[in-house]
Amino acid sequence: MLPIVEQLEAKRAAARLGGGQKRIDAQHSKGKLTARERIDVLCDEGSFEELDMYVEHNCVDFGMESQKIPGDGVVTGSGTINGRLVYVFSQDFTVFGGSLSERHAQKICKIMDMALKVGAPVIGLNDSGGARIQEGVASLGGYAEVFQRNVLASGVVPQLSLIMGPCAGGAVYSPAMTDFIFMVKDSSYMFVTGPDVVKTVTNEVVTQEELGGAVTHTTKSGVADVAFENDIEALWAARTLIDFLPLSNREEVPERPTADPFDRIEPSLDMLIPANANQPYDMHELIRKTVDEGDFFEMQPAHAGNIIIGFGRVEGRTVGIVANQPMVLAGCLDINSSKKAARFVRFCDAFEIPILTFVDVPGFLPGTAQELNGIIKHGAKLLYAYAEATVPKITVITRKAYGGAYDVMASKHLRGDLNYAWPTAEIAVMGAKGAVEIIFRGKTPEEIAERTAEYEARFANPFVAASKGFIDEVIAPHSTRKRIALGLRKLRGKQLENPWKKHDNIPL
Ligand code: HXC
Repeated sequence: MLPIVEQLEAKRAAARLGGGQKRIDAQHSKGKLTARERIDVLCDEGSFEELDMYVEHNCVDFGMESQKIPGDGVVTGSGTINGRLVYVFSQDFTVFGGSLSERHAQKICKIMDMALKVGAPVIGLNDSGGARIQEGVASLGGYAEVFQRNVLASGVVPQLSLIMGPCAGGAVYSPAMTDFIFMVKDSSYMFVTGPDVVKTVTNEVVTQEELGGAVTHTTKSGVADVAFENDIEALWAARTLIDFLPLSNREEVPERPTADPFDRIEPSLDMLIPANANQPYDMHELIRKTVDEGDFFEMQPAHAGNIIIGFGRVEGRTVGIVANQPMVLAGCLDINSSKKAARFVRFCDAFEIPILTFVDVPGFLPGTAQELNGIIKHGAKLLYAYAEATVPKITVITRKAYGGAYDVMASKHLRGDLNYAWPTAEIAVMGAKGAVEIIFRGKTPEEIAERTAEYEARFANPFVAASKGFIDEVIAPHSTRKRIALGLRKLRGKQLENPWKKHDNIPL
């Protein structure tokens, strides 16, 4: 090897050591991979090309001029996931705790700009003590530069954040503006202010885990989508997710070969709906039996379980699925489920991913907790998201579709392209008993029972809606996949545009 090339290799090897072997060992002892090891798991073998390996910080305060580490705490570049291009930044906790300096931010911005130009997803592996304290406002400026790009990239290229270490202060806002957030249990945290500040200001005593751990954010707050046991699981899941997504809003959804016949009949679905209308069943069963090979990537499985969201494929092409879940809160829409599904619908619409909606919804959840916390505004988010979406929309009502929730769940009136109902569907303004008690207030229990039976016979079916053209066809449950697959084929050429506007004003 030429000496000059040897020197280059030596320089590279030094840069790859980041903050040194001692700190790498400390990272490993916490069960965490290093920034580069994470990239090796995330990207196809040998595909990652690093940029800006020799960038150093420009801080001269607090003795920083003598502490320079090539790369400055973040590894950036591009690679492939199953052959498809992605841009990646991976913060290196061994270098100043992965803290964000001005130059560190510039490196992230550079790959974000490239991803936007060429149309490829950005994946951020976050493991950082936040703003580089020695740099002060330069670091804050760096964060804002990243935030600005998160917003510009939103809806143009998919953005995925993996939280794999601490993520405090302003550092949480960049991930918050990305499309999906994965966290690692017991080693990742997200909070605006940590437990010590919380104690000082509010006198609350709370652990890091309770305040901003993976379980907290994937169950209670809904800030993050999925929690994983360790770095490797999270990184593999990121690969799986990317496989479902188009690279940008200029590309079509990816297509992968499937051996699953489009017209697979599922006789078991004819028995899915229990005889008793108040008995729950698991909507996952319908989802799994509809998508190719039962492969469903669920988002936010542990938060607002009354609605299910996630990605699957039909005939090899990605679809987004939104489904009421009768097993949780009887499938009612509430604040959390509305917000959860609304953002997902908007993601699908932004990236031209057709939306399948499975409906079994008894209405919005009543109560002061919901009303006083703004169910009107939050429920409107889902209504708004469906109404503005121009992607192919196919809806199947399996059982209840009552009241305002009927309208919201991708109804015909919100430009649903194909609105199907199973014969077990009940499409009405409300359940029979509630309706009769209002219309026939003051009547004897016997009369109420009689009228309820009449109401059920008249309205607890899909045919009133079908007679008005609100339901395009009443389909046999066993043929659901076939009807959806045929529908999606026909809708591939769908063209629909909303009126020109600078941007909309969704209720926030
Ligand atoms: C500079 C930092 C740093 C930071 C950590 N380090 N955070 N250096 N700026 N923000 C350095 C440490 O000095 C240490 O250096 C190394 O990283 C590892 O840190 P440890 O504390 O030893 O690790 P650990 O015990 O695991 O604790 C990790 C931590 C803690 C929880 C992240 O370091 C911490 O609380 N850091 C400060 C967090 C913070 O307040 N950030 C600013 C938030 S405000 P050596 O040389 O010993 O290895 C903010 C505003 C942004 O981000 C606003 C944008 C709008």
